[in-house]
Amino acid sequence: MEKSVKTTLLDRRSIRRYERDVISEEDLHFIREAIRNTPTSYNGQQYSVIEVADQDIKLKLEAIVGQKQLKTCNRVFIFLSDYNKISVAAKAKGMSNPGFENTADGLMVGVIDASLAMMSAIVAANSRGLGTCPIGYARTANPKAISEVLGLPKGVFVVCALTIGVPRELPDLKPKQSEDLLIFKDKYGTDNMAEKLLDYDREFTEYHANRSGNTSDEDWIGEILSYYQEAMNYKMLEALKQQGYGMRQ
Ligand SMILES: Cc1cc2nc3c(=O)[nH]c(=O)nc-3n(C[C@H](O)[C@H](O)[C@H](O)COP(=O)(O)O)c2cc1C
Repeated sequence: MEKSVKTTLLDRRSIRRYERDVISEEDLHFIREAIRNTPTSYNGQQYSVIEVADQDIKLKLEAIVGQKQLKTCNRVFIFLSDYNKISVAAKAKGMSNPGFENTADGLMVGVIDASLAMMSAIVAANSRGLGTCPIGYARTANPKAISEVLGLPKGVFVVCALTIGVPRELPDLKPKQSEDLLIFKDKYGTDNMAEKLLDYDREFTEYHANRSGNTSDEDWIGEILSYYQEAMNYKMLEALKQQGYGMRQ
């Protein structure tokens, strides 16, 4: 059964435990079509997706990335920034290619296109009652090993993976920042930003302590800063260069 747009969007949460059930071909087709109709910069479609159904490949991904959803889900969709296709197209037409992927904006364009495509897939899958979880560690854990498993050519790197399957859990919805912290009116900012952020921190800490499933005594601000601390060690610039993104300007 198809959920309403409102339920699809407002009831969405990340699902990390899945049933063994397969996803119907009709649902997969809808997800693929939703991905294909994603808006993209210049209509350049600077992204592509690898749909992984093969359990051996899922196990390899899980071994590298360390997120169990990768092996228990029915499908992993891997969203890629992709400048290989335009390079192949330009070559096929004998046209010169300026190498947009070597600029910061080119990098952003590929990431934006791939991210929007992932959101299309999330919405499509959730509207069919499926569960999804983005896996950012697929980008950061070991870019070289992941590129080898997926056979990525130059001009292509993993932006994010998405696990999809029939949900085996219904975790509590995570409280998000209030509307006035997320959506400003006419220009940047809101009154008493620090106080409102501390209010949210308290609300989130309470959610952490009381949620169904595994509880935690960590606060929101502390948790986010420790994620950032860990992420300071990722060697993404090196990984991007390895995949042919030269970052010249
Ligand atoms: C780009 C991105 C990367 C993410 N990476 C992971 C991940 O590697 N592992 C994971 O369990 N959840 C991951 N998540 C899910 C977030 O933890 C989740 O969206 C967030 O905690 C909010 O919870 P909700 O999705 O249930 O609202 C990721 C989400 C996004 C958007």
